[in-house]
Amino acid sequence: MKNADQQSELQARTAEHYDRYPFEFMTPSDESAIRATQPEPFRRFVDQYVTATSRVAEIGCGPGRGTLFLLDKTAHLIAVDISYRSLVMARQRTPYTAFIRATNLMLPFQSDSFDVVISDGVIHHTPDARQAFGENARIAAVGGTLYIGVYNRKRYYYYFYTVLGPLLQRLERNIAGRAFIYATALPLYWLVHLVKSGGKRTWKGAINFFYDYIMTPRASFHTYEEVCIWGREEGLDLLAYDPSLGNVHVFVFRKTRRTRTEVISAYSQGDSDADHFKANLHELD
Ligand SMILES: C[S@@+](CC[C@H](N)C(=O)[O-])C[C@H]1O[C@@H](n2cnc3c(N)ncnc32)[C@H](O)[C@@H]1O
Repeated sequence: MKNADQQSELQARTAEHYDRYPFEFMTPSDESAIRATQPEPFRRFVDQYVTATSRVAEIGCGPGRGTLFLLDKTAHLIAVDISYRSLVMARQRTPYTAFIRATNLMLPFQSDSFDVVISDGVIHHTPDARQAFGENARIAAVGGTLYIGVYNRKRYYYYFYTVLGPLLQRLERNIAGRAFIYATALPLYWLVHLVKSGGKRTWKGAINFFYDYIMTPRASFHTYEEVCIWGREEGLDLLAYDPSLGNVHVFVFRKTRRTRTEVISAYSQGDSDADHFKANLHELD
């Protein structure tokens, strides 16, 4: 998707969508056992690469599931999201984290700023996943690591979203259609989640999952090969790959040199990142 107006309209819709349906599904017991609530590849990554002195950026933190876990490891944490409400919820969870509202298509940080960059389930919700990937790579320091979770093009969910998604999204636009969804698709969806989660998933959590997976204004899907090419283009080495989570596959990269996005950005901005990105910064008040 190239047109700038279309991109900003889509991002505005995405922010509004996650304001209404933040990716929130944790119960109080999930919160008190926050380590157990993390997906296994993420736990492994954090154990291996995040230390007490790591400067960490979490891009697309949502309501703070990962943020809360990361705080066990490091205090040098900045979390970004495009949805104001998600950030407010995350801040209630972790009051001492720095939160910034921004788009991952133009992050308000200088290049080479973080030892660890995490973006779990986010770049595929943006108008241009490749650009968001490049921005994540740009802000990582040379020698730093990245954890990127992205929708897998080779899973059934791709068909679910592209075939069923438009139908349900159209239905949802009017009251009768929404009532129909709440009476049919949602209870079914909740039931499946209830079984899969061993009885843990709440009705509200299921609604938020449903709106993230089916109703989200934008989801793009990417193959292993495609993401590997992006990594190579950005000067990243692939350290680990994990498809075990199903719809999202996980890539762990190490940045080995200045990235393509970084070099282009430095040239086009006369090498003064700070002024350029300041314009895109919205502090959370
Ligand atoms: C599926 S949730 C994932 C949240 C969190 N990473 C997690 O795993 O719990 C996707 C998040 O991406 C955020 N998001 C979508 N588009 C974005 C963009 N262009 N820039 C920053 N965040 C974005 C949404 O607001 C939402 O909170």
